[in-house]
Amino acid sequence: MEKLIDAIVRRDARCGIIGLGYVGLPLALEFARAGFRTTGIDVDRAKVDAINAGRSYIVDVDDAEIREQVAAGRLVATADFAAVRDLDTVNICVPTPLRKTKDPDLTHVVSAVNEICRYLRRGQLVILESTTYPGTTEEVVQPALEASGLRVGTDFALAFSPERIDPGNAHFNTRNIPKVVGGVTPECTRIAKTLYEQCVERVVAVSSPRVAEMVKLLENTFRSVNIGLVNEIALMSHALGIDVWEVIDAAKTKPFGFMAFYPGPGLGGHCIPIDPFYLSWKAKMNGFEPRFIELAGHINEGMPRFVVEKITDALNVHRKSVRGSHIHVLGVAYKAGVNDIRESPALNVMRLLQDKGAVLSYSDPYIPAIREDGLELDSLPLRNGWLGSVDCVVILTNHREFDYPAVARDARLVVDTRNALAGIAGDNIVRL
Ligand SMILES: NC(=O)c1ccc[n+]([C@@H]2O[C@H](COP(=O)([O-])OP(=O)(O)OC[C@H]3O[C@@H](n4cnc5c(N)ncnc54)[C@H](O)[C@@H]3O)[C@@H](O)[C@H]2O)c1
Repeated sequence: MEKLIDAIVRRDARCGIIGLGYVGLPLALEFARAGFRTTGIDVDRAKVDAINAGRSYIVDVDDAEIREQVAAGRLVATADFAAVRDLDTVNICVPTPLRKTKDPDLTHVVSAVNEICRYLRRGQLVILESTTYPGTTEEVVQPALEASGLRVGTDFALAFSPERIDPGNAHFNTRNIPKVVGGVTPECTRIAKTLYEQCVERVVAVSSPRVAEMVKLLENTFRSVNIGLVNEIALMSHALGIDVWEVIDAAKTKPFGFMAFYPGPGLGGHCIPIDPFYLSWKAKMNGFEPRFIELAGHINEGMPRFVVEKITDALNVHRKSVRGSHIHVLGVAYKAGVNDIRESPALNVMRLLQDKGAVLSYSDPYIPAIREDGLELDSLPLRNGWLGSVDCVVILTNHREFDYPAVARDARLVVDTRNALAGIAGDNIVRL
């Protein structure tokens, strides 16, 4: 193992990333920029081809960044797991979705680990980065890798390090977000920490993989529960006739003990709506009934219905029904500035409106088309004044690219779920 540490410090080690999505591609680039010869492995040939051709498919990554590393011979992508044989380190960044029953679906992790096992050799380091329940690294990954006959700690190193990337965030990226790492043995932690120290500004070692796994779930549960709380405050404020946005703006002037979270049409993305259920599943398996996670999930999942109720009431004031009304949605990505529609609450709002007979259209500069079960729409360009021809405009994602004063001016009716029209007054505006 000492040889591996030396190779890492000399940046001679060959690094591999399995799963080249929102997490894996930026990480692969960071290793390559640090001087490591880096191999990305993905089952999606389109991504492999794009990387080798110097093309990005992720908003935070420019084509030029990929081209530079590919041209320098530091980054190559492949769909062939046999590449693992020549690697010294392997980071697993594959998806960890939920089943329909909200149970963890580790299919991608298990399949990646089984592939690694076929080519595992002495002196390698394997790190799981996919978000998952506490115990996965030692209970699922370790036995699968030890099926090779090699032993963790003596023959190969194994650690968990949660990914904390925030797509679309202009300030924080793979390099300057501190990295938490916990190895199966202290030696595993030392090796994994040394690897990240080559390309991440701060590495925080913890005592075990399960602590590192729990850290990530605490962070995401914290967000889910606080968003659930503020969504409930929004529902309460609605019932009491109070503007929740004004309340939050004033509350956040408190310099300690308060952190602003904002209500919205519901939770979206690959992390916040999903990860806390990994924790609640594991807790239930151990006889513990988690309450905050379930309650926050319940409130957050109810938000699309509340938005539809707001739209219905707003149309009603205009003597219109949802059925037959033309409703135009602004923004369908799960948050501003990203081209990701996974778990987006906009899809739920749109399905509910479609079920009620609305005539739907949408604009989103990041999402050219929607082909999700039941929804088949193409993004419309926003022509000058056109919004005045629809019955209702609904702002579901507050992309910077929209001209909000023009929206408020042109639309006959706007339901704003993100406070995108803050500071603009008008009888045609209904806020969440
Ligand atoms: N997206 C985020 O903001 C974010 C932030 C923190 C943590 N995470 C976590 O990181 C993990 C990855 O998320 P992501 O957003 O990058 O997912 P993603 O879907 O963008 O990328 C995953 C990639 O893995 C590939 N893949 C799937 N199965 C594979 C296999 N068996 N072998 C090789 N490649 C395989 C897919 O083709 C895809 O390219 C998840 O556990 C997620 O919860 C995501």
